[in-house]
Amino acid sequence: MSNSVIIFDTTLRDGEQALAASLSVKEKLQIAFALERLGVDVMEVGFPVSSPGDFESVQTIARNIKNSRVCALSRALEKDIDAAAQALSVAEQFRIHTFISTSSIHVESKLKRSFEQVLEMAVGAVKYARRFTDDVEFSCEDAGRTPIDNLCRMVEAAINAGARTINIPDTVGYTVPSEFGGIIQTLFNRVPNIDQAVISVHCHDDLGLSVANSIAAVQMGARQIECTVNGIGERAGNCSLEEIAMILATRKDLLGLSTNINAREIHRTSSLVSQLCNMPIQPNKAIVGSNAFTHSSGIHQDGMLKAQNTYEIMTPESIGLNRNNLNMTSRSGRHVIKHRMEEMGYGPDDYDMDVLYAEFLKLADRKGQVFDYDLEALAFMEAQAEDDDHYVMEQLVVQSDSTEGQATATVRIRIGEEVVTEAATGNGPVDAAYNAIARASGCNINISSYKLGAKGEGQNALGQVDITARYGERNFHGVGLATDVVEASARALVHVMNLTWRADKVAHCKQQIQKSRELGGV
Ligand code: KIV
Ligand code: ZN
Repeated sequence: MSNSVIIFDTTLRDGEQALAASLSVKEKLQIAFALERLGVDVMEVGFPVSSPGDFESVQTIARNIKNSRVCALSRALEKDIDAAAQALSVAEQFRIHTFISTSSIHVESKLKRSFEQVLEMAVGAVKYARRFTDDVEFSCEDAGRTPIDNLCRMVEAAINAGARTINIPDTVGYTVPSEFGGIIQTLFNRVPNIDQAVISVHCHDDLGLSVANSIAAVQMGARQIECTVNGIGERAGNCSLEEIAMILATRKDLLGLSTNINAREIHRTSSLVSQLCNMPIQPNKAIVGSNAFTHSSGIHQDGMLKAQNTYEIMTPESIGLNRNNLNMTSRSGRHVIKHRMEEMGYGPDDYDMDVLYAEFLKLADRKGQVFDYDLEALAFMEAQAEDDDHYVMEQLVVQSDSTEGQATATVRIRIGEEVVTEAATGNGPVDAAYNAIARASGCNINISSYKLGAKGEGQNALGQVDITARYGERNFHGVGLATDVVEASARALVHVMNLTWRADKVAHCKQQIQKSRELGGV
């Protein structure tokens, strides 16, 4: 049996389906590129039949990713498999993942079928998916609560039908490690054709055991782990990719297993996913929490000074976290910026040097000192801006009387070719700025959540505002970063306005295409 564990990332499928606001195609592609650099073997990037948007993002990612296998999900239905196959057909290498529930609870209450009927559907789906590719994965949803005899029958039948990967999900995060490891061991002991497939596991974290259960499974012979960056996913989330990668790397002595993950990309990928998904990471989260490498007590600090391995079982550098937070000023030249970006793992294609340097100088003038994390934040904001942004905030002036709570804001916005200036009052500076923007743009954005945080450290940190807004049937996530929190708030709103404007434009184009088809055009 191989000592290599396949890392199957499902951040863009299981992770994304749990977000308050869905990601745009561009954001998904950004994450897909980060996952490719991270070295995931397979990335599951959507459920194409679920919406035209999901179909489009799966297709776009399939077209662009070359070094990881791209996978899409489908229920055990021909129309789902057709959609997955069609979206993936542009990929160099792809996998179709089809699934059906196997636990008695799901079979009886959700599917309202007999187990025999479900077995037949599973076999039919796997055979149908094999028409499009040799790489078919089959999942027994809620395997953790499936009677073991049924699970063995299902696995054997799916392998006979042509599935090359069999996934055993603990869909509701119910099992404990010895129990889940036992399920995998039983499958290896009882399923006669088990050697013809890779056994995969997909554990949810409802009881906080997803990582422990996945490790127990690989100890019993599973060779694929399904996981997500920062552990995002349905309810309490999925098994965390970074924890699995670092457990297998740090405890290779015990487990004797390896992955293709380039651990130095972990920190960067984790920050990107957290930022784009509007999912903050708890400070004490293993591997990627902001405290994960911080030593607080005097005894620990003393030990660290004497020998790093007294209190560190892995180094921050091993996950790409740089301890040297060098600061730059407005006197730092372009070569310094380029060098710092390189040190943080960004190549010349990841940002536009002219734009980044101009933004860096503006920030250095305001803050005096600019740190690595500021530079990273500027590069992030630059990557979010689109060439065709319809709304651009050119100026914002706010006056406020904090004791009375009254404020007045004046905003100048470029809307397409036109420049509009408007003023408004409000209950505090953010309210006033939002009222002025609404008046200038005519956009009525319904904000369902507003979060103010800091990017960086100390009182000089950049203010970061994340808002979620409801527009039509969808939620949109806007982010704004600035030294001034009112400006950051305004930028987050303008970001959402551009996202909704683009969504309207896409919907309009689709309508036009539909109309021309109906009229017999192309
Ligand atoms: O949790 C689960 O069972 C799933 C399947 C679709 C693999 O996400
Ligand atoms: Zn899941």
